[in-house]
Order: sequence, then C-alpha cells, then structure tokens
Amino acid sequence: MTEPLKSCPSGLKVLIDQPAIHEKVHQLADQILSDHDSRKPLILIGVLKGSWVFLADLARALSPFPLKIDFIQASSYGDQTESTGNILLLNDLQIDVCGKSVILVEDIVDTGYTLRHLADILATRKAESVKICTLLDKPSQRKVKTQIDYIGFTIPHHFVVGYGMDAHEDFRHLPFIAYLSENTE
Ligand code: IMP
Ligand code: MG
Repeated sequence: MTEPLKSCPSGLKVLIDQPAIHEKVHQLADQILSDHDSRKPLILIGVLKGSWVFLADLARALSPFPLKIDFIQASSYGDQTESTGNILLLNDLQIDVCGKSVILVEDIVDTGYTLRHLADILATRKAESVKICTLLDKPSQRKVKTQIDYIGFTIPHHFVVGYGMDAHEDFRHLPFIAYLSENTE
C-alpha cells in the first residue's frame, strides 16, 4: 500500500487519513443498517459536488441493502471559502421522493444553510422521512440549527479539502482529508 502522508501536496496538512475514513464510513453504514428495514425502499441523495466520493463509499458499505441513488446540486459558496447564505439549486433530483425514506448525504455541514434549504425542498415534496448523514460536521460557524442524524467526524474551524471536497475545484481527488495551511513542515 502506498504511504498516503507522503503524497500530500504542499500547502496542505492531513487532518483525517484513509484508514480513519474507511473505518468511519463502515461505522456509519452499520448505524444506517440498524435503523432501516430492508423491506422499505431507501433513497440516498448525494449533495454535489462535494459528497460524490463519500456517497460512493457509503453506498458500497451498505450493500446488499436495497438502495436507490440520486443527486442534487446546490451551491452556496461561489468562489469563496465563506458561505453567503444564498443557496442556488443547480441540478435537481430525477427520482420522485414522495412517500419515500430519504437520506441526504453531505460532505460537510458548516453554516447549515445548504442543509436547511435542501431539507425544506424534500419536505415540500412529501418525502416520508428525511434523515441527514454528513461525513464532517464543522459546528463553529453554524448559523442555522440543524438536526443531523449521522455524523462521521466533528472538526475544528479549518477549510478542508480532499475526499470529494475542493478549494477552487482543486483537490477533490485526494483520498484523504486535509486542510489548507501555510505551515506544512
Ligand atoms: P453550509 O451551507 O455553510 O453548511 O455549507 C455546506 C457546503 O459548503 C458543504 O456541503 C460543502 O460543499 C461546502 N463547504 C463547507 N465547508 C467546507 C470546507 O471546509 N471545505 C470545502 N467545502 C466546504
Ligand atoms: Mg456539500
């Protein structure tokens, strides 16, 4: 196996390495499995773009539980690293969630604006239940009270990248989670 820490680009510091992510994804999958009846359809909704890697790993960790998977794309940051609170719906779902159990899969919850907006949309479409699963929770900047059902890691106030998350569209493909740092020695 390659040594993940040696491949960290300069300007970044590893916050959560691959083995820790792998273990956490399987723990989250176990929690979800114990909360859900496999006779009821469950829809995982990935919030693009940041959740794409997490959703792919989580869905496979849930196998063979029957799932449908869809995506929704929202943007609150634009090109900034601070949320504006103005949420744009960039791409909508294809599956009708009416009467269905849904888990919204997020990479990270920061202010909570995105989550509130998307949860409101799913509620107006009469999903039977809407649960939230986020890999990372960054509560230090929370602006909106949010009920999160499944949390991977609670992290301090860093801007993080990797494992799907970006800074100006860079670093999404890194297999670990790192934070932007000037001091990398
Ligand atoms: P919120 O609306 O402020 O909760 O932000 C939610 C979205 O902003 C997340 O789903 C991410 O896509 C993005 N985001 C928030 N914090 C970070 C970060 O530290 N790194 C990368 N993206 C982030
Ligand atoms: Mg996101």
